[in-house]
Order: sequence, then C-alpha cells, then structure tokens
Amino acid sequence: MKISIVLGTRPEIIKMASVIDEIIDRGHELLLIHTGQHYDKEMSETFFKDLKLPLPNYNIHVGSGSHGKQTGKMMEGIENVLIKEKPDILLVQGDTNAVLAGALVAVKLHIPVGHVEAGLRSFDETMPEEINRKAADVSSKLYFVPTEESAINLISEDISRKRVIITGNTVVDACYRNLQIAENRDISEYEKELADLDIDNMDNILTLTMHRAENVDVKQRLNSIIDALIELKDMNIIFPIHPRTRKTLENFGLLEKLNSYNHIHIIKPVGYLDFLVLLSKSTLILTDSGGLQEEAITLNIPALTLRYNTERPETVSAGGNILVGSDKDVILDNAFKILNNPDFANKMKNAKNPYGEGNTANEILTCIEKFYKDNKLALVS
Ligand code: UD1
Ligand code: UDP
Repeated sequence: MKISIVLGTRPEIIKMASVIDEIIDRGHELLLIHTGQHYDKEMSETFFKDLKLPLPNYNIHVGSGSHGKQTGKMMEGIENVLIKEKPDILLVQGDTNAVLAGALVAVKLHIPVGHVEAGLRSFDETMPEEINRKAADVSSKLYFVPTEESAINLISEDISRKRVIITGNTVVDACYRNLQIAENRDISEYEKELADLDIDNMDNILTLTMHRAENVDVKQRLNSIIDALIELKDMNIIFPIHPRTRKTLENFGLLEKLNSYNHIHIIKPVGYLDFLVLLSKSTLILTDSGGLQEEAITLNIPALTLRYNTERPETVSAGGNILVGSDKDVILDNAFKILNNPDFANKMKNAKNPYGEGNTANEILTCIEKFYKDNKLALVS
C-alpha cells in the first residue's frame, strides 16, 4: 500500500512518529508531505532528528500567515502532490490547518482519509481547531479515536460506528518509546539552555507552555497569567517559549517583565527528548497545550490547564487535570492546593490514563490493512 501522511506542526510530527515507524516496519510505501507551517529548526527539524524519522518527500513551505492564506496554499500544494503520487489512503492527525487542507483535498480526489485523533470536541467554535476537527471529520473515511468519549461525539454526529475505531492516542506511544531513551542520556546531551539550568539538580520544577491564540494574543489574559507566575516564587518555572508567544509578549512589552524574575526561566522550545526529561522531573505542569494535557496524565504529573474548556475532558474526569482558565486567583488557588497538599497531589498523579497502553500506531495500521484487504476503503456514491 502507498500511505500518505500530511503534517505541518510540532505536535503532528511527534504524534505521527509511531505511525510512520509502523508504516515502514510493515513494508508499505510512505509518502510524507510537510506543509511547512512550522519551519523554525526547533519547531520542526529537531523532531525529525530526535524521533529518527525519514525526511519528508515534499515540503510545501507555506510558512506563517492568516488562516485562509495558509490553508489555501496548503490545499494547492497538497493537491499537486496527490494528483502526481496517487496514494491509497491519506492520514492526517489532530486539528491543525494541515488536517483541514489535507482532508478536503484528498476527499475531493476520491482518496480515502484516515483521521488520527478524530472525534475530539471542545464545543467552542471560536477555536480554529474546532472548525478544523469538524471539517476533517466530515471528509474522513476512517476515524481513529483515542477514547470512547470521542467515539460518542462522532456517532452523535451520524458517523457510522463501523468506521470509528477506538485506538488510544499515539502520544502514549511517543512518551513510552522515548522517555527511556531520554532518561538514559547524559546531561551533556541536553540542549545547552536546559543543561545550563542543571535540571537534574533542581527542585520544585513547574513546566509552563502556552501558545493558544485566546491566551497569548490577548494582553489582559496574558497579564493575568503572568501575575500568577510571579506569585509562584517557590517554584522554578521553566518556560520553553513557543515562537507565537515570544512575539506577542514582545509586542505587548511583557517579555522584559517576565524576564526580570529569577524563578522564571524562559528558554527556546526544546527537542522531544529534552522535553520529556523536563516533564518527568516536574512537580506541576501549567499549559494550554492539547498534547501536554495528555502527556501529563501519561507521565503521572498533575496538570493545570489555562483554558475554560477542553477537547480532552477525559483527563479532567479521571482527576489528573484541572481547568483554571486565565484568572490569576483560580490559577494560584489550584496550584497551592497541589503544592501544599500531598494527598491531593498524589490523587492527581494516580489518575488513570485514558489514552491506552502505547500500542496505538500498531492498531491503526492493522485496521487500515484490514479495510484495504476487504476493499472497504473506496468511497461509495
Ligand atoms: C499551530 C496550530 C495549533 C497547534 C500549534 C502547535 C493551526 C490553526 N494552529 O498554532 O492548533 O496547537 O500549531 O504548536 O493550525 N512561528 C514562527 N516559527 C515557526 C512557526 C510559527 O516564528 O516555525 C510564529 C509566526 O509568527 C506565526 C505564529 O508563530 O505567525 C503562529 O504560528 P501558526 O503556525 O500560525 O500557529 P500556531 O500558534 O503555531
Ligand atoms: N513539546 C516539545 N518541546 C517544547 C514544548 C513542547 O517537544 O519545548 C512537545 C510536547 O511534549 C507535546 C507537543 O510538543 O508532545 C505539544 O505541542 P504544542 O503544545 O505546540 O501543540 P498542541 O498539542 O497544543 O497542539
């Protein structure tokens, strides 16, 4: 089989790595298309290196821009490649613009689409990702959903349950496969900024990431989050900063304010192996990232999510994640509850991971092969 993958951002590379390995291990032909949405070395190339992935066959180099411009350029580029290469199936992952562009182009060329991490819903249509998820799910043929809850979302949108397969989330494959490799490295192999912080000998680590438009593009919300960070003086806050966030902090004149506190360490985004080590040494994770909510519960670290809703409600109902939004007092109340109350912290750490055992890529490929063999991938009129 010729299996194509469209990806374009950091989390897609990480979450498709095990699927790519599985495609290659099973002897299928892999056609890897990078949209070029993320292009900085530390947002893209580093992950191909860390995860030992083959380089993309095509890079569309869309770069940054408005949603319409970015998605339009992606669609044109992906269409040209698919017409030329004629894959048997196209896989997309998650909810970025690559997912929207890849799924729409493929379905119109009558190439079946498999959506990895399908069925997630925040029910918040102000999020661009919610629109991407829903549009991709209308265009897909196979739905690889992480949990029963995401399966129910799709079935309640009238998608045939025969095409919805609960597989867990490939993020667990990524964590389990790489944490051991990461931990067995010497500190000299860490990226310089992380090595300089000497995290192996650091206590009270709080790992912070944020990049969601609704947080980082709104000065008042950013300020409120920063005010909470300033109060967390006993923590070593390590903040590998997303390029979007660096730019908006600079534009709002807030980067200097953050940099003036000794307990806040702003560093460049780090590679996956370094980041896993950092997470595993953390007492607490503060984030608005989708992937981090999943990794936190996989690695048994309490998470506070800087959002008012989540498309990962399983992490909250399991007890490993609390939604704190961007309100300073709510962030601090919950952080201190975890930091000062070991029983509460332990309860969060022991929350059951809803995303499977780390065998997701294997299940996805087994399913694709079965549908292909039974001639059930073709679109029917
Ligand atoms: C994108 C995804 C988001 C995902 C995130 C993962 C969409 C709509 N958004 O958001 O769902 O959670 O990736 O990180 O697809 N920039 C750089 N260098 C880069 C990439 C971006 O400097 O390599 C800067 C540019 O100023 C750009 C901004 O970051 O305008 C935002 O980048 P963009 O790719 O549009 O969105 P993300 O916020 O990264
Ligand atoms: N990540 C990383 N280095 C960093 C920050 C994050 O490797 O400096 C990884 C993290 O482990 C997770 C993924 O990037 O797997 C999450 O990406 P991001 O938060 O950008 O996107 P989202 O998951 O919100 O779509």
